Amino acid sequence: MLPADVPAIWLRDNCSCPDCRDPLTDQKLFQITDLPDDLGVANVRPVDGDEEGWEVVWANDGHVSRYTAEWLQRAAEPDPRTEDGKELWGTAARFADGLPETTWAAYLDDDAERLRMLQAVARLGFCLLRDVPLRDGQAQQVALSFGYVRETNYGPQFEVRVEERPNNLAFTNVAITPHTDNPYRDPVPTLQLLHCLVNEAEGGDSGLVDGFAAAAALRAQEPAAFAALTGTSVPFAFRDDTTELSAHRPLIAADPAGRVREVRFNNRSLGTLRLPAEKTEAFYAAYRAFARLLLAPERQLDFRLGPGDCLVFDNTRLLHARTAFARGGARHLQGCYADLDHLFGTIDVLKRKEAQPC
Ligand code: OGA
Ligand code: ZN
Ligand code: ZN
Repeated sequence: MLPADVPAIWLRDNCSCPDCRDPLTDQKLFQITDLPDDLGVANVRPVDGDEEGWEVVWANDGHVSRYTAEWLQRAAEPDPRTEDGKELWGTAARFADGLPETTWAAYLDDDAERLRMLQAVARLGFCLLRDVPLRDGQAQQVALSFGYVRETNYGPQFEVRVEERPNNLAFTNVAITPHTDNPYRDPVPTLQLLHCLVNEAEGGDSGLVDGFAAAAALRAQEPAAFAALTGTSVPFAFRDDTTELSAHRPLIAADPAGRVREVRFNNRSLGTLRLPAEKTEAFYAAYRAFARLLLAPERQLDFRLGPGDCLVFDNTRLLHARTAFARGGARHLQGCYADLDHLFGTIDVLKRKEAQPC
C-alpha cells in the first residue's frame, strides 16, 4: 500500500503521465499554481505488473497518476553532496589497505573501473589515476573524461612549479598547509585535478584532510563553535596585477537541515572580517578550534605524487597540502578545475548503462 504519510500535493506534483511531463524531455508541463487548492484522492489501487506500484485517481478531475515503489524509494535518497551521501574518514588509517586508485588505461577501457573511481570521489572525496601520460594538458583530459574544465584567471590549466614572479604561494617551493582552493570565488571550483609531471625534489609530498569529518567532529565537540562558523559569512580575497576576486561565504556551509555541505578553509586568502567585537571574538575562537581539528597530523593522509599520477579531489570537502621542497629541486604539476555536478551525472549515466547493458 502507498504509505499513509505521503501528502496528496506531493504525489500530484510528481505525476509522470504524458499530460504532466513531456515524454521526450521528461520536463514538467504545469506550474505549481495550476493544481487545485482542495486536492482530493478518489481512489488508490495497486498496479498489476512486474513492478510494485500504485494508481491514484484524483477526486477533482478524474486525473490518473501512477507511481512505482522504486520511485518512492529513490525519492528518499539523501543529497549526495552533503555529509549524508559520504563516507567520512576521520584519519588516514582508513586507507591502511591502499588508496582508491587505478591506471588511466583501466579507467578509460573499463566502465566499471571508471564508475569505481568516480564513486570514490563522490563518497571519499578523491581518487588517484596512475600512468596518465606525461604530456601537456592531461589534467584537462582527465576532467573531460567525466565533465568539463572550469577555466579561471589562472587559465584553463595552471602550472604548479617555482615561478620567477608568483601570484600565488602554490607557485613557490614553500610548504602549503591544508587548504581548499579558490575560496575567493563564488561559485567555488568544486573539483580540482593535479597531474604530476616531475617530482624529483626533496620534499614536495602531498596531504589530504577530510574537511567534512573535521566539521562533524567540531559539531559534536563544540556545537557553539560549529554554529558560529556556519552562521558567519567570511570574506576571502585574491589579487594580482590584473585580477581582483572576493567572495563572502562561511567556513562551513550546512544545508537547511544542518548537514555539512561545503568547507572553505584557506589561511592565505582569508580577508578582513569586520563584525561587532563580541561576534569577532566568537568567530576567532571557533575558527581556531576548527583549524586545530583540521591541522591535527593524524587527520592528514600523506602520500607522494610521482610522475604520471593524477589526483582528482572534491574541493568543497577535502583540504590538500604539500610539504616544502628544495629550492632548486625539479617539481612540476599541472592542475585544472572542474565541477562535481558532471562527475555525479557521469556516475548516474554509467549506472544507467550498467542496469541496461546493450
Ligand atoms: C595548488 C596546490 C599543491 C602541490 O596548486 O593548489 O595546493 O602539491 N598545490 O603543489
Ligand atoms: Zn498527470
Ligand atoms: Zn591548492
